[in-house]
Amino acid sequence: MTTTPPFDDALISLALVRTTEAAALAAARLAGQGDEEAADTAALNAMAAALAVQPFRGRIVVGEGCRHTAPALFTDDEVGAGSGPVVDVALDPLEGATLTAKDMPGAISVIAVGAEGSMLRVPDIYMEKLAIGPGYPEGLVSLDMPPAERVRKLASAKGCRPEEITVCVLERPRHRALVEALREAGARVRFITDGDVAGVIHVADPEETGVDIYMGSGGAPEGVLAAAALKCLGGQFEGRLVLRSESDRQTAIEKGIDDPTRSWLRDELVRGDVVFSASGVTDSPLVGGVHRRRGWCECETLLMRSATGSIRRIHYRRRETGGEAGIHPEIG
Ligand code: FBP
Repeated sequence: MTTTPPFDDALISLALVRTTEAAALAAARLAGQGDEEAADTAALNAMAAALAVQPFRGRIVVGEGCRHTAPALFTDDEVGAGSGPVVDVALDPLEGATLTAKDMPGAISVIAVGAEGSMLRVPDIYMEKLAIGPGYPEGLVSLDMPPAERVRKLASAKGCRPEEITVCVLERPRHRALVEALREAGARVRFITDGDVAGVIHVADPEETGVDIYMGSGGAPEGVLAAAALKCLGGQFEGRLVLRSESDRQTAIEKGIDDPTRSWLRDELVRGDVVFSASGVTDSPLVGGVHRRRGWCECETLLMRSATGSIRRIHYRRRETGGEAGIHPEIG
């Protein structure tokens, strides 16, 4: 009789680094080329190849949504070497395809892995997101409060004026009313053009990033990844699907979500312990991007475990080769 080994996050964590490194290195080759799709595909293929040798039996719960536009790593696909613990995998081989295509800061490759059944399956639609860092009373701010009230509550808990609160928001026309309300409340708004996983992560260390709170809507898959990151770093997250049509509601129900109108807290999106790995494609304050020098390439990865709160920054450097026979060139 064979027994399935339990989820061993420590063992899996270091192996995971290779998956985001490979995707970041592949995407970075296309930085500044103006071709989002090519960068996305390169990252995806490299991550798929790296995942194929991982010591687990993984099921993708948050992956590429559409078989028509992506060649692999769809939600519900199985990944891994086929032996070892059974795990949930949430991934985005290239979070910030536009940033990569324009060679702008902030593109990363991301993966989160937890025990089977630990992460919520969400449809590839928008999610309204709210996040604050660690050290505040649970439920201090919520999606049910108007934005100005969230600012006031946070300022009072932080012991500062609303004018000293910085809110990170994706720069989108749909956020016009939100931004007006925040400015009326006196808060500062820090825009990001893309990449709200990193945007949310910024709240975990306001001293360093200057960001106190994240608000606004973005991809629901990115919401699960952001919740996984905050589970490692500490901090509160709340997300609620944005149902713009009956088809959005249906897609959510098909994913097994009984009540698509409810909101989820961090530990409801990511129920068990999780390992989170993010490698930089382009430079950002969160993690350094890929750099290629004559004969060498370098890349940086942020690797975190919620079980211990451990955070590693792994600097990877290797000779630039065409890859060994049969092995994806980006897997070191
Ligand atoms: P991808 O690069 O994976 O497409 O996502 C970039 C991103 O900015 C996410 O971080 C964010 O959640 C989403 O797109 C927002 O979507 P939209 O551009 O439609 O507002």
